[in-house]
Amino acid sequence: MLISMELILCSLTLLSSDTVRKTFMGAADREIMKRMILFCKAAVEVPWHVPCGGVPYGDGNLVFIANDWHTALLPVYLKAYYRDHGLMQYTRSIMVIHNIAHQGRGPVDEFPFTELPEHYLEHFRLYDPVGGEHANYFAAGLKMADQVVVVSPGYLWELKTVEGGWGLHDIIRQNDWKTRGIVNGIDNMEWNPEVDAHLKSDGYTNFSLRTLDSGKRQCKEALQRELGLQVRADVPLLGFIGRLDGQKGVEIIADAMPWIVSQDVQLVMLGTGRHDLESMLRHFEREHHDKVRGWVGFSVRLAHRITAGADALLMPSRFEPCGLNQLYAMAYGTVPVVHAVGGLRDTVPPFDPFNHSGLGWTFDRAEAHKLIEALGHCLRTYRDFKESWRALQERGMSQDFSWEHAAKLYEDVLVKAKYQW
Ligand SMILES: *[C@@H]1O[C@H](CO)[C@@H](O)[C@H](O)[C@H]1NC(C)=O
Ligand SMILES: *[C@@H]1O[C@H](CO)[C@@H](O)[C@H](O)[C@H]1NC(C)=O
Repeated sequence: MLISMELILCSLTLLSSDTVRKTFMGAADREIMKRMILFCKAAVEVPWHVPCGGVPYGDGNLVFIANDWHTALLPVYLKAYYRDHGLMQYTRSIMVIHNIAHQGRGPVDEFPFTELPEHYLEHFRLYDPVGGEHANYFAAGLKMADQVVVVSPGYLWELKTVEGGWGLHDIIRQNDWKTRGIVNGIDNMEWNPEVDAHLKSDGYTNFSLRTLDSGKRQCKEALQRELGLQVRADVPLLGFIGRLDGQKGVEIIADAMPWIVSQDVQLVMLGTGRHDLESMLRHFEREHHDKVRGWVGFSVRLAHRITAGADALLMPSRFEPCGLNQLYAMAYGTVPVVHAVGGLRDTVPPFDPFNHSGLGWTFDRAEAHKLIEALGHCLRTYRDFKESWRALQERGMSQDFSWEHAAKLYEDVLVKAKYQW
């Protein structure tokens, strides 16, 4: 089963003459793809060899759940190695799409690495203007899976569009009949202001809806103190937490920065990622030391503390399959200001001051002036309409974002995968 080293070296040499392909699929990607091939082959063998609940399932009653391109070969191996041969007839697979931007794309002539029958190549072969003709793991997995789950209905809708499908929109459309959008849940032991372990020291406090006002005030004060910002209850404290890359829209905050620092606000940004964006965060902190903190790093503790201590959380993501930080924020009485895209659109209905509904502010294009407009409304409500603000916090904290709800929907999909044939 192991891929021969000779083959790999040989194909590496071949590829090095083809710069287009090299940029399209670098050596690191090939390493990962080889690992994923091995992983998926091993996973499909597990029921035969690993005792679960005492005995191996073998040819039994079983559903695999494959997450993203990394495991997209699993439904394919299940079919090619077993079901095509009359084995594992009661076994099913479900593909979950968390992010379509990564697909497992490789040159067609490396398809033999997968050790699949030759005619399977047709399920992988894809042409798009960016990648040219290539073998696409995700495409094959989506076709072979019995059911497909996308991590929000909004993202599913986008995946069917040319702009949102990253070349796979036609395949998503063709498989719409077996596809469903389900918003992720949050772990409400880990992300729960009542029991949050990261709020038990340094002046922070755990809090609940009942103690929201005093709890939030205390956490905000502790956060301002920890970050070395001026300790003031009346200044709106904004947060941003996220990977620093093209997806999360940190450049949009950057474009809005002159306006933001012209306001009486404080802003803390936490994240790691692209070096130029990390430098940008540090630069903002240096330039606007009285108002802005740019914390480069991955700190779970600080993420919890920002979520608890901030008044509002910015999420100007260019695309967002589901998004969790907005859910965490709402659970902590922190009001999200989001680009209405993917899961953000599904989970943050816009505030409507006339009928007192909605959970945050949204803007419909990933542009700085749109963010500024939404943030402007947010800040005005914070300052001048305290009751509306309080009601927004309360509605957010009263939502059920737990897995309880999502799990029921997943259960439906499992049942469908199992019995619809
Ligand atoms: C904070 O946590 C303690 C236990 O650590 C608990 O007894 C208390 O009720 C919590 N307070 C709030 C407001 O949830
Ligand atoms: C409030 O009004 C908005 C827009 O008019 C509407 O979309 C929303 O469903 C309403 N919400 C409630 C709770 O009535």
